[in-house]
Amino acid sequence: MTNEAYLRELFSLDGRVAVVTGGSSGIGRAIAVALGRAGARVVVVARREAELADTAKELEGYGCAAAWVSADLGDREALRAAAERMAEPFGEPDILVNSAGINLRPPLGELGDDVWDTTMAVNLAAPFLLSRRFAPGMAERGYGRLIHISSQQAHRAFVQSGAYGASKAGLEGLTRSQAEAWSPYGVTANTLVPGFVMTPLNARLSSDPEKVEALAARTMIGRNGLPADFAGAAVFLAAPSSAYITGQSLFVDGGFSVH
Ligand SMILES: NC(=O)c1ccc[n+]([C@@H]2O[C@H](COP(=O)([O-])OP(=O)(O)OC[C@H]3O[C@@H](n4cnc5c(N)ncnc54)[C@H](OP(=O)(O)O)[C@@H]3O)[C@@H](O)[C@H]2O)c1
Repeated sequence: MTNEAYLRELFSLDGRVAVVTGGSSGIGRAIAVALGRAGARVVVVARREAELADTAKELEGYGCAAAWVSADLGDREALRAAAERMAEPFGEPDILVNSAGINLRPPLGELGDDVWDTTMAVNLAAPFLLSRRFAPGMAERGYGRLIHISSQQAHRAFVQSGAYGASKAGLEGLTRSQAEAWSPYGVTANTLVPGFVMTPLNARLSSDPEKVEALAARTMIGRNGLPADFAGAAVFLAAPSSAYITGQSLFVDGGFSVH
């Protein structure tokens, strides 16, 4: 085997189908493009159509097969119908990335049922429901990769983590339950844990240069995260070479969590 073929055996996603929620922006978009460029056919999912179409165009610009589905993943009925549409363009997915997420930050004492329910629906229930729809098929076919995006707020309180931190801690618990359920059948479940990444999600915080600098100083690398920092880790966790890694949380945070 040539060295190039060996590299392909480790990391190529040729012939695989990936669904990436939140694939139209920030971390999810960088992951969608990375999986596509590594060989997967990619379906991106979010609400806003223009951003979805733009992402699919970017993927096609790299010669990748791409499609998109617009859906509000916070709405169970819409999610169920959308899941069927996700499997239409390229067939059932081998890789599911749950990056769609919201961070609403009212003080905990004022946090209403609506914020709690919406946060749990988008950040925790949607990854559960989509995994439940797609993982049994992956297990039957003997190959599957569930990749969730949690947050350092799953591990520590940070700027009114409120419902958000609780939803992300739940997501890491879900990852371990999924690993237990499906790893014997070739389906791994893992979580990528970002620190502070400059994306529209935290526009308010990222528009304050002093706070941005202070956060960068809390990392070991000396800068805040970029969506592109997630590309390699996502390809690895989607690829054959990560077959013996499951139930794990991989921090992609420049050392933020170990200071
Ligand atoms: N940025 C950070 O510092 C950071 C830190 C820790 C964890 N994270 C996590 O990383 C993930 C990606 O965040 P990001 O920073 O890349 O944020 P982002 O740029 O705001 O992207 C969020 C994505 O989720 C989609 N989305 C949001 N609500 C949705 C809904 N109800 N239904 C369907 N799609 C929905 C958005 O598209 P539409 O609005 O068009 O629906 C968008 O594509 C999130 O789970 C977030 O919690 C981010």
